[in-house]
Amino acid sequence: MTSSPAVDADPQTWNGEGLDRTSPNRNLVPISLDQDPEGRLRLAGCGLSDLARRFGTPLYVLDEATLRATCRAYRGALERHYPAPSLALYASKANSSLAISAVVAEEGLGLDAVSAGELLTALEGGMPPERIVLHGNNKSAEEIALALQHGVTVVVDNWRDLELLAELCRGRTEAVPLMLRFTPGIECHTHEYIRTGHLDSKFGFDPDQLEPVLKHLAGCRWASLQGLHAHIGSQIFEIEPHRDLAGVLADALALARDLGHPCGDLNVGGGLGIRYTIADDPPSIDTWVAAVATAMVEACRSRGLALPRLLCEPGRSLIGTAGVTLYQIGSRKPVPGYSTYVSVDGGMSDNPRPITYGSLYTAVLADRPDAAPVERVTLAGKHCESGDVLLRDLPLPESRPGDVLVVFATGAYNASMASNYNRIPRPATVMVHDGRSELVQRRQRPDELLRYDVLPERLRSVG
Ligand code: LLP
Repeated sequence: MTSSPAVDADPQTWNGEGLDRTSPNRNLVPISLDQDPEGRLRLAGCGLSDLARRFGTPLYVLDEATLRATCRAYRGALERHYPAPSLALYASKANSSLAISAVVAEEGLGLDAVSAGELLTALEGGMPPERIVLHGNNKSAEEIALALQHGVTVVVDNWRDLELLAELCRGRTEAVPLMLRFTPGIECHTHEYIRTGHLDSKFGFDPDQLEPVLKHLAGCRWASLQGLHAHIGSQIFEIEPHRDLAGVLADALALARDLGHPCGDLNVGGGLGIRYTIADDPPSIDTWVAAVATAMVEACRSRGLALPRLLCEPGRSLIGTAGVTLYQIGSRKPVPGYSTYVSVDGGMSDNPRPITYGSLYTAVLADRPDAAPVERVTLAGKHCESGDVLLRDLPLPESRPGDVLVVFATGAYNASMASNYNRIPRPATVMVHDGRSELVQRRQRPDELLRYDVLPERLRSVG
């Protein structure tokens, strides 16, 4: 394994390269991945095919060391490059569980939640409420009330949030901590579904609403505006839009302070990309943080502003590389003149990203990652939909039903976006660390899926 990626290598298979221990988001594989003397892949000392046998497939496996390393990479870089206080908040939409919340809390990060479910998971996982923010472009009164009840900072996204907050805060003597999200009007190159910073977006106040809302808030005794927030998009490899964002946020901060808000925090959102295939070349966490921090210092100094606390909200780059998914190979269908379909026991319900965004991944056989490919296959899922394809043109060595296949970089937006399409139960998640493998999310059983169905009395006699 070497540290420099072979850019001309086949993008969807792993040849042992792309391992850069200094910045896990630039790795294709988790940092604890290695091979046993027989060449079989191990993660944190646990054989991947052993895990598949023990816990079943599909199986999400999380490498705790990679998650801790990315947390430390963000914390360390913020401390090195930003001369005022800072805090990285984990965007838990990327992958939310008690175990992840506990690890991230222990590493000293905060957390961004976007629903009552994510909020409860964070609190129950031990994340201190003062390090949590609640986002959302259509928060319910219940979600806001839950945040207020626990002292979680609400990020105000729109006028409706303010109406709900005003109602919920009636009679309160202490002001509640709020942040304000606005659309920065910055374009970036990523899939249109995950771009949020451009003006035509459902998230946050339009820039021309910023002054009216800041004036309005100045008159709300129940509100204490802690800071401003903007997020430009996700899986971004460019640094420039993040630098531009610092200027846009600093302008807004100047306005807010002019209008009497103390506003100690600026939150630049998340967005740093990761390596899904060897051809991807994202900046390192250190490079990203250095650019954001430097741009923020320059933007504030040139406007004569005291430095705010710098917040950021990485999701994908914090957890994406830590996760792999294990599948078992099943049926095979060669279609002469077209392609050979090799099917696995999961698919779009455990990883909806290929069918949703056309996302690419990298995959190898767990026990023979070095075997020479003998064919190119279409790796299909088991769902009743032709588009349920996880990887196309995947070079694969000879394979048999029951062989375990590993897909890398599935730690972000896989488990959290999983569905029960075709009534397929959600996979388990196992966390591995120092030779230990621990179940952190139980596999659903098909019969459990019936728990939410209600058969009306009058239909009980049918059949
Ligand atoms: N903060 C806010 C306000 C966000 O909306 C997001 C992501 C993040 C932080 C974290 O961004 P990240 O560091 O993960 O790029 N399902 C899509 C990604 C949607 C991202 C939504 N917002 C995917 O699978 O690519």
